[in-house]
Amino acid sequence: MLSPFLQERYSRLFPSEVIEGLTRPVKQAIRVNTIRADPGALIKRLRAKGFRLSRVPWTEYGYSVEKEPFSIGATTEYLLGYYFLQDPASMHACEVLDPKEDELVLDMAAAPGGKTTYLAQRMGNRGAVVALELNRERIRSLRSNVTRLGLENVIGVRMDALRVGELKLQFDRVLLDAPCTGTGTLPKSPQAGQKGPEDVERCTRLQAQLLEKACSVLRPKGLLLYSTCSVLPEEDELMVQWALDSLPLRLEKVEHGEPALAECYGQRLRPEMKRARRFYPHLHGTQGFFMALMRKG
Ligand SMILES: C[S@@+](CC[C@H](N)C(=O)[O-])C[C@H]1O[C@@H](n2cnc3c(N)ncnc32)[C@H](O)[C@@H]1O
Repeated sequence: MLSPFLQERYSRLFPSEVIEGLTRPVKQAIRVNTIRADPGALIKRLRAKGFRLSRVPWTEYGYSVEKEPFSIGATTEYLLGYYFLQDPASMHACEVLDPKEDELVLDMAAAPGGKTTYLAQRMGNRGAVVALELNRERIRSLRSNVTRLGLENVIGVRMDALRVGELKLQFDRVLLDAPCTGTGTLPKSPQAGQKGPEDVERCTRLQAQLLEKACSVLRPKGLLLYSTCSVLPEEDELMVQWALDSLPLRLEKVEHGEPALAECYGQRLRPEMKRARRFYPHLHGTQGFFMALMRKG
């Protein structure tokens, strides 16, 4: 299931319970779309259809699916845009970035739009979320999700986020949910288990370039949320360490989740790295996920 490269990395980095957790499927979760539905009324409707749902306490609108009589993605309520299927850690990234109504927000790697649509929802259909996506098929799925969820404050643009400077805009908040190896999502994407050093190198090169662009279009004192669904420190702590060393950014604290690694591969990281957070299946019931909140200037 795991490439020799990942086996070697994981055994150096993690105890066995972490590795076991990363290879076991996690529960599905939904995020109530408050633009279209009232959370209490929706949960009542879904329970009446036989779904068993439980609140994810550290998210605002997240519910784990404990039992489904049929697929939770095949209900009328889903088609009506009353909720979105989303991992709770991914929901939480948007809660941590916490965009305000009337702000200008950038999502640099947006499709299929789980985070874009939650940012737009949290902004109450006000302000604007500029959602960039390079892949033509994937931006279609973003646009259809935006429409289904009834959001009118999202501008989906098919473009390379490395060219974001050409938009000549400065953003109040930026989300960089970076293209990554996906090593935190093995049960859902088994191909992520086959990644080798060349994949990590390709991803980290792009991540550093995207971080630099993100910082360049962020207004002074603006907030940048960097996240990945990878558990490899090369894409997480070491990437943030590079950003803090090279760009005018400082780390802000994230409340929930496990503090990020203090050291890896025998290297001690900056002491403030613990403000960034990791999410693990065996502890949080989520996919493997990393997030770091940084302020410019
Ligand atoms: C981790 S996924 C994003 C998931 C999304 N944020 C969500 O929550 O639904 C990363 C996305 O970045 C896109 N991508 C890769 N390179 C890009 C680039 N240079 N510019 C814009 N998007 C890019 C990929 O096609 C992929 O859809």
